[in-house]
Amino acid sequence: MNLISLRTPAKTLFTILAVVVFSIVSSFDLQAQEDGEKLFKSYCASCHSAGNNALVGPGLAGVYDKYEREWLYSWIKNSQALIASGDEQAVAVYEQYNKVLMPNQPVNNEQIDAILTYIKEYNEAAPAAEVASTDAAEVVEEGEAETSPYFIAAIVIALLMVVVILRKVQHLMKVVEARIKEEDIPEELTLGQAIGRTIQSNKTIFALMGIVVLCLFAKSGWDAAFGIGVYEGYEPEQPIKFSHELHAGTNGIDCNYCHNSASYSKSAGIPSANLCMNCHTYIQEGPQYGKEEISKIYAALDFDPVTKTYGPNQKPIKWVKVHNLPDHAYFNHSQHVTVGKIACQTCHGPVETYTVGKQYAPLTMGWCINCHRETKVQMDGNGYYDEIHERLPESLKKQYLEDGTITVSELGGIECAKCHY
Ligand code: HEC
Ligand code: HEC
Ligand code: HEC
Ligand code: HEC
Ligand code: HEC
Ligand code: HEC
Repeated sequence: MNLISLRTPAKTLFTILAVVVFSIVSSFDLQAQEDGEKLFKSYCASCHSAGNNALVGPGLAGVYDKYEREWLYSWIKNSQALIASGDEQAVAVYEQYNKVLMPNQPVNNEQIDAILTYIKEYNEAAPAAEVASTDAAEVVEEGEAETSPYFIAAIVIALLMVVVILRKVQHLMKVVEARIKEEDIPEELTLGQAIGRTIQSNKTIFALMGIVVLCLFAKSGWDAAFGIGVYEGYEPEQPIKFSHELHAGTNGIDCNYCHNSASYSKSAGIPSANLCMNCHTYIQEGPQYGKEEISKIYAALDFDPVTKTYGPNQKPIKWVKVHNLPDHAYFNHSQHVTVGKIACQTCHGPVETYTVGKQYAPLTMGWCINCHRETKVQMDGNGYYDEIHERLPESLKKQYLEDGTITVSELGGIECAKCHY
């Protein structure tokens, strides 16, 4: 007779736990499909806040009550058709927001429902907490709170351990039982055997869990590769371990010494190896890497540091571009650095502390637009504006004289064509 048979309880417990894990996993997946927040951020957030702040378009707080659902479907999918059809409401919205067209959004009705639910929840959750919610901050948080595959793996391991412990107890019980009956003591299972037998007797569940874990791994890999497309913090390896901290920080070399075209042209440019030689003809060893890294400059220029002569086999250093705006967006350094008088660090962060070049700002459209909305241009004593000031419409001239400030956006800095050819 068995004293206590633990086999059945172990199996039951295991099955219950497996079912729990399974349902957690699948609910997360369902949620991910319908995740209004994600949809909102990838399709709408570059132009709309979910609250009341206007970006390119108006804040979307309240639109779910303000308009019929059917009207919203048509508007979001094709606002231009709706305006062209003469729909009064659509024409009114269009006129109200200065006749800026909202591009057609590639979303279906279910996705629009999910987006609207998110906007509603967003406003009900924190109506007052919206502090000029910047798109930049939102983008950074993207991909938070995902069920990580590691988390699932941890649960699976924990389950296995529970089973192994139960098996141990079961074995002890059997030993006691054998003692009482004075039979031979059964042999103990090793850890591997215990796990092996557990998997054997629960094959289906393990196979299913294996598939789920695999899918989650695949999904997170996919998201990382394609999902976000924002490369904030991007920090590629460079052919020479050039350190801004050492050059611009410790040695106080001015940004303009190496990136001087930023002040007069569109691009800031990366200095050529010849410019490095202004100093490195003589500085042949560095504090951290000795001759190793500096000799790569010499290799590129076919330079002999002993005779100080250049050979014929020169090839450019292939720096990896850190910042990459898509071709359809236009950005001009001199407009910002010289005319706008914005410090490099505002957009690139504390470069003088970087040992490796990296992308600091998200470089999204929302990031550009936000700054254009918030930044006031200082026209006085800035020759560039004398003529622009003359051409300003009367209302803006008056505003400028009254409070002395006009934002970049009021000068037209959020018109699509300013940044898109
Ligand atoms: C490229 C910019 C842009 C994108 C992206 C965009 N919109 Fe718009 N949206 C606008 C502009 C501009 C308006 C103002 C109406 C006009 O002038 O046509 C607007 C108006 C609206 C309105 C009417 C608001 C009101 O208060 O009357 C709704 C609703 C709306 N958008 C929803 C969305 C949703 C949902 C998405 C994402 C699926 C989205 N928009 C994506 C630019 C955009
Ligand atoms: C001694 C020359 C030198 C000085 C001084 C210097 N840089 Fe650089 N900078 C480089 C080189 C070389 C690279 C390319 C390697 C890299 O990305 O780290 C670079 C890259 C960069 C990049 C990334 C470019 C890309 O690929 O998108 C930024 C932004 C930048 N510098 C800003 C600054 C700022 C701001 C300062 C002043 C605080 C500064 N640099 C001072 C030489 C210099
Ligand atoms: C204005 C002078 C100047 C220019 C221009 C300059 N450097 Fe330097 N570089 C220095 C100084 C100073 C050191 C530090 C030497 C030391 O502390 O011993 C240094 C050190 C280095 C080191 C050694 C790092 C280490 O820790 O071992 C590398 C690599 C280097 N520079 C690369 C470059 C490259 C690439 C360029 C051109 C894009 C460049 N430098 C342009 C002044 C310069
Ligand atoms: C208003 C924001 C802003 C300011 C201010 C700014 N940059 Fe940039 N910078 C950018 C953007 C955006 C890019 C990406 C441009 C692209 O990919 O076409 C960039 C790219 C660069 C690059 C890569 C090479 C290139 O020209 O594309 C360097 C180097 C650089 N910046 C240096 C500087 C320096 C040095 C200063 C200060 C003198 C500065 N930047 C000021 C936004 C800014
Ligand atoms: C840190 C704030 C800031 C950021 C970020 C910024 N800008 Fe600007 N931008 C300005 C200021 C200030 C001016 C005003 C200079 C002027 O009057 O021309 C300006 C002017 C411009 C202009 C000329 C506008 C006009 O009316 O002629 C363009 C185009 C432009 N920015 C594009 C961009 C793009 C593209 C980005 C993002 C990649 C960007 N800006 C990011 C502050 C910013
Ligand atoms: C101040 C500069 C600026 C203005 C104004 C601007 N854009 Fe953009 N836009 C950008 C930048 C920069 C990107 C690239 C963003 C990225 O790669 O994430 C972009 C990307 C886009 C995209 C590609 C989708 C995406 O999010 O990457 C569309 C579509 C677009 N803009 C439409 C518009 C329309 C329509 C307007 C006018 C209502 C407009 N933009 C005004 C800077 C601007």
